Amino acid sequence: MSARHFLSLMDCTPQELSGLIRRAIELKDLRKRGVLFEPLKSRVLGMIFEKASTRTRLSFEAGMIQLGGQAIFLSPRDTQLGRGEPIADSARVMSRMLDAVMIRTFAHSTLTEFAAHSQVPLINGLSDDLHPCQLLADMQTFAEQRGSIQGKTVAWVGDGNNMCNTYIEAAQQFDFQLRVACPEGYEPKARFLDAAGDRVQIVRDPREAVRGAHLVSTDVWTSMGQEEETAKRLKLFAPYQVNRALLDAADPTVIFLHCLPAHRGEEISEDLLDDPRAFAWDQAENRLHAQKALLEMLVAPAFAQP
Ligand code: CP
Ligand code: NVA
Repeated sequence: MSARHFLSLMDCTPQELSGLIRRAIELKDLRKRGVLFEPLKSRVLGMIFEKASTRTRLSFEAGMIQLGGQAIFLSPRDTQLGRGEPIADSARVMSRMLDAVMIRTFAHSTLTEFAAHSQVPLINGLSDDLHPCQLLADMQTFAEQRGSIQGKTVAWVGDGNNMCNTYIEAAQQFDFQLRVACPEGYEPKARFLDAAGDRVQIVRDPREAVRGAHLVSTDVWTSMGQEEETAKRLKLFAPYQVNRALLDAADPTVIFLHCLPAHRGEEISEDLLDDPRAFAWDQAENRLHAQKALLEMLVAPAFAQP
């Protein structure tokens, strides 16, 4: 039961995280040059999706195949998980057959419960609290475009959701200042804010948040599982749209990132992803490279020959 898990950025040291970003950039280069690199031959990743996904599923599945292994997609609809088999039992069984597991779920406790009973590494593919794989891609994208993020200022505009919580952890691990602009009542969770101390500042005015910022990011106003709040959120978050004029108030070198999927006309203006300061497509691609670096680190080297 001593497997190493990745449920949060806090499961790695800052040095390991910087190493993962450097490795992701190397793996991206290998792929662009058409070099075959298959250190995970015969390794199998199980992927449990309790919520929808395009990028996370594709990047993990393609990543495992490119590294020489395989990925198996599992949904609660077609497994005993959906019929009430306990998480702990599922973890015991699955981890005897697989080399690593990725879970996208609602309650973060599903991940901690699975991890406690898993013999193999568990990766958080998004929970209601955190989305650490996305932040690996975001940090890689910033590094590629602007170099080190250490000492820089990042602005999060909109909902204090799972992505925002993860930016708070990233601020501590990658050593940057974070300003969060959100409406009252939609702040990130207190436990993340408390752990970050004065690295994170909450403001109400998006212009105040982005002033001098080197990276601006936002996300949908209604996350998966909150669909019944959509109408209320649309109204409340309207002053928090990120558009070209808002980016003009940031540092001249600012880049804009969005984890996607995006709702144009809501959290971003119709034209924002076409702005030269936006790097959302590179960011999406980097999910593949960053997670390959993560899989390489977590999944043991190839089996010895008999
Ligand atoms: N950004 C992200 O996690 O996208 P998916 O929901 O498509 O996986
Ligand atoms: N906050 C969003 C992120 C999707 C990638 C959600 O949880 O739905």
